[in-house]
Amino acid sequence: MNKNNVRLISNPVILQNLCTMRDKSTSSQDVRIATRKITRCLLYEAAKNLPLVDKEIATPIATFTTKTIDSDINLIISPILRAGLIFTDEAIDILPQACIRHIGMYRDEKTLKPIWYYNKVPMEAKNPEKCYIYITDPMLATGNSLLEAIKLYADKGIPVKNIKCICIIAAPEGIERIQKAYPDIEIITAAIDDGLNDKGYIIPGMGDAGDRIFNT
Ligand code: URA
Repeated sequence: MNKNNVRLISNPVILQNLCTMRDKSTSSQDVRIATRKITRCLLYEAAKNLPLVDKEIATPIATFTTKTIDSDINLIISPILRAGLIFTDEAIDILPQACIRHIGMYRDEKTLKPIWYYNKVPMEAKNPEKCYIYITDPMLATGNSLLEAIKLYADKGIPVKNIKCICIIAAPEGIERIQKAYPDIEIITAAIDDGLNDKGYIIPGMGDAGDRIFNT
C-alpha cells in the first residue's frame, strides 16, 4: 500500500461517530446521523485540493481582496448507490456549486463483481482539466465498484489527480487494488480495517452499509 496517497483522517469527532456507526445495536437513524457527521469532516478534507482565485469583498468596514473557490471549475460528486448517497446532503450543503452524478452498481453476491444498473455521468467531459470528481462510497471493500467508477471518469480524460475516492471504512485489499490500477489516485478515509471476509465484507467494518443506513 502506498500510504502517501491514502489520507487517513482522524479526530475525536470521527472516532466517536465511527464507534456509533459500527455498533450493531445502533438504530438506523443513529447510524445515518453518525455517518453524516463523518462525511462532513471528510468532505472538508477533500475540498483542500480545489483551486482558489482572488475575490474582492466589501465588508461593512472595508474592501479587501481574499481567496475563494474558482467558480470556473466543474465539481462533481458521484455517489455509488446505495450507500454512497449518505454523502450527498452534506456535500451539496458544503459545496453548493457541485452537481451530483449518481452511479448505480450492486455487487454480484457470488463473483463480488459490480453490476451496473444506473449511470448519470455524461458521455463526454467538457474541459476535463477543470473537472474535479469526488466518488463517494462509505465502504471500500474489494475496490471493484470504485475501480469501475474511477475508470468511467479517467477514460473521459479527467486527470487522475482531480479524482478523489472518499470512503469511511477501507480494507487494505481494496486500497491496494485501486492503487495498482491508479497509483496516483488519492483515497480519503476515516479508518483502515483489518481485511475482508470470504463474502467480501470488511472486518470488523459495520456490516452492510446500505442496509444499516436505509434500514433494509
Ligand atoms: N459493502 C458493505 O456495505 N459492507 C462491507 O463490509 C463491504 C462492502
